[in-house]
Amino acid sequence: MDKIMRGRIKELIARHPKVGDALAEFGVACVTCAVGTCLLKDILEIHHLSPEDEQRMLTRIAEIVYPNRQVVIPLRKSQPEQKTGKLINSPPLLKLVAEHAMIKRVLARIPDMLRKLDLDTVEGRQLALASVDFIRSFADKYHHAKEEDILFKCFDGNLDIIKVMLDDHETGRAHVRAIREAVERRDTVAAVKHLKGYQKLLMEHIRKEDEVLYPWMDRQLSVTQIGRLFSEFAAADAPLAETRRRSEEFISMLEQRFGDAEPGQSR
Ligand SMILES: [Fe+2]
Ligand SMILES: [Fe+2]
Repeated sequence: MDKIMRGRIKELIARHPKVGDALAEFGVACVTCAVGTCLLKDILEIHHLSPEDEQRMLTRIAEIVYPNRQVVIPLRKSQPEQKTGKLINSPPLLKLVAEHAMIKRVLARIPDMLRKLDLDTVEGRQLALASVDFIRSFADKYHHAKEEDILFKCFDGNLDIIKVMLDDHETGRAHVRAIREAVERRDTVAAVKHLKGYQKLLMEHIRKEDEVLYPWMDRQLSVTQIGRLFSEFAAADAPLAETRRRSEEFISMLEQRFGDAEPGQSR
């Protein structure tokens, strides 16, 4: 078991595809992860399942990899009480979660917006460009920049989980470029395709950060690091107060125009 704990998960799944199903049963989406050089022991650390679920998941994996053997499942040492679970406690990370909530309010209204989008009209082009402006100025410059320039710098940039998030940010930027080009060409089909692609990407990206990355980071950060993040985030936000005001205005406009999203989609 020790050998597979120190092995790369993608290689293990390639040899034993059912291991991917076993991980998925416990909410660990290694099969769909784009990078996947994580070691099984790192996955346990990052996903931080309850001790019972961790034992159940490892037992399932052991049964798949060693079907005819009795395998001893290693017990990991438990974390201090306040550092367990998927909770996020530190104010700087809670601030980023609140920004996710703002972004999700826009994402939740994209499907309705796309049903009526027509780039042959001035109104349609303005709406598409206003959405691009929100994505670039708030989701990217206001929010992703704090992650990339401040938060992620507290951790090893070679970690797969960080690489996956950075890849998502780049894929999002490519969608935004494609949407802008589509607006210039008045190509409604391409704009709809890339707005849909962006919405799907960011919903999943935010879910990974809220449920996996941030809780893991929250457990790793020292009190000193949390204090430093708090002041660095405040310094990064200060010159962008107008961006935030404009973004809040855009969200209110979308909500007025396209109504309330389905429960659970907006925040
Ligand atoms: Fe991110
Ligand atoms: Fe984020």
